[in-house]
Amino acid sequence: MFPGSIHKRTYIIITIVVSIPLFLWAYANATKAQTILQQKTELELIAAVTTLEQRLPQTFEQILTEESVVNGTAEQQRAVLNKHLQPIVDEVSRQYPHFGLGYYSPSLSIVAVSPFKPETLGLKAHNNSLRIYETKQKEIVCVDSGITRDGNPLIAVNYPLYSNGNMIGHVWANYKTQDFHDQFYILLSRNLGLICLLWISVLLTIGWAFRKIENSLTEFANQVKSGSPNPSKLHEFPQLIPVLDTVIQLTSDKDKVMEEMAKLDRMNLVSQMAAGVAHEIRNPLTVIKGFLQYFQMKEVAATTKEQCGIVLEELGRVEAIITDFLSLAKNRVTEQKHCNINSILEGVYPLLTAEALKNGVELTLNLDKRIPETLLNDKEIIQLILNLTRNSMEAIKEHGLVIIQTRLVDKKYIVTISDNGCGIPPEICKNIFDPFYTTKENGTGLGLAICTSIVNRHNGTIEVVSALQSGTTFTITLPIYSPDAGKGQMVM
Ligand SMILES: Nc1ncnc2c1ncn2[C@@H]1O[C@H](COP(=O)(O)OP(=O)(O)O)[C@@H](O)[C@H]1O
Ligand SMILES: [Mg+2]
Repeated sequence: MFPGSIHKRTYIIITIVVSIPLFLWAYANATKAQTILQQKTELELIAAVTTLEQRLPQTFEQILTEESVVNGTAEQQRAVLNKHLQPIVDEVSRQYPHFGLGYYSPSLSIVAVSPFKPETLGLKAHNNSLRIYETKQKEIVCVDSGITRDGNPLIAVNYPLYSNGNMIGHVWANYKTQDFHDQFYILLSRNLGLICLLWISVLLTIGWAFRKIENSLTEFANQVKSGSPNPSKLHEFPQLIPVLDTVIQLTSDKDKVMEEMAKLDRMNLVSQMAAGVAHEIRNPLTVIKGFLQYFQMKEVAATTKEQCGIVLEELGRVEAIITDFLSLAKNRVTEQKHCNINSILEGVYPLLTAEALKNGVELTLNLDKRIPETLLNDKEIIQLILNLTRNSMEAIKEHGLVIIQTRLVDKKYIVTISDNGCGIPPEICKNIFDPFYTTKENGTGLGLAICTSIVNRHNGTIEVVSALQSGTTFTITLPIYSPDAGKGQMVM
């Protein structure tokens, strides 16, 4: 989204996410404070005009009469009124030093004023202020021209002066609107200053954290490069210590892994070649078998027929080995569909019983009916059961007993094939799943290897428990897939 290093991007994001709302807050806060100040000032203005009104000792008329200037010129009358009223204005002004105050007579205009300037006496009030002589009640007005203080617009509160129900003039108190604006800018700058301080400290903290992380990562990289771990230097970032151990371990194992991979590559190539060769052997075998069967049918000596039979039997074994080998060597895509393990076992039971009878073995099928349908490749499962049951029968000498059992456990099911045969010596237990490992004279050593690959394709496990002369149990654990899991295909 943003260019540059992670530091810069973090700074930009923090600035946008944090600063914009803070700036808006600063502005809103200053505006609100200004409004409150304005309201407070208006109340003070009203208090000031009320004081002026109450302090007026007599009416203008009475003062002029007392001083015998009723018939004097306007200047004389203004001077007399100013002599009486200016001290009052000055005194109230000491209480409200930021305010402009004064007395106004409609016939003599300004008669007393604070701050005092002789040239203001006799000046006419602004039209907005003179509106009070129409409304005859308290007015809050804006004065932006005419008699302003130092050319600044004002907010003024005008208050009427009454005598015997007649309005004889008014008093005023005013405040420079510029002062409100100044207050607003002072507040805004104070808030912005605070935000800048906060912002700088946040950025410094982030910068500090980044530097720590960067240093730890550089140290981590150096230690990985040199291959000598020194966890004490990573105390700032202890989460890296276990990673360092693992990485160094992995690096030191790299050569071994590379060697293993090269070996696997070679094995893969050899297995592909072997599968190809095995496949090619099949075709000439079919021809040889055909000729042998042809010879057998011809009128040849009985010994020749017998020899042909032996060769054919051996060829059959070669073919079986090739078939098993190919099923193991190929990368297969196996179709899996929803079926029930119990049904598969019941289906194959007659075949197994026939083989058991032939070997003088008693076969028992013990099924857990709670097992639901799940994804299976039925042909492979049949092969799995046949391989294991055949091994069991081959391990039994007399009074043989083979039990096939299914059990539902949590979200899995277990198939066990147990026999009371010769058992497997512990020292060979680890080898029996290897391809071509056999202890039998005519064995291929592929049965259990095929079983392992089938179980793996079904995401299951196969385990063996055996005791010499007591018997062997193979346990296959398979997962139960919910009906909507997978599409019935698993690539191995
Ligand atoms: N049920 C069993 N009882 C005793 N030994 C067994 C049993 N199943 C397998 N084995 C041992 O495991 C070896 C490998 O079995 P397998 O892969 O099927 O090959 P094969 O049956 O051709 O020998 C067998 O030769 C045998 O020694
Ligand atoms: Mg076998």
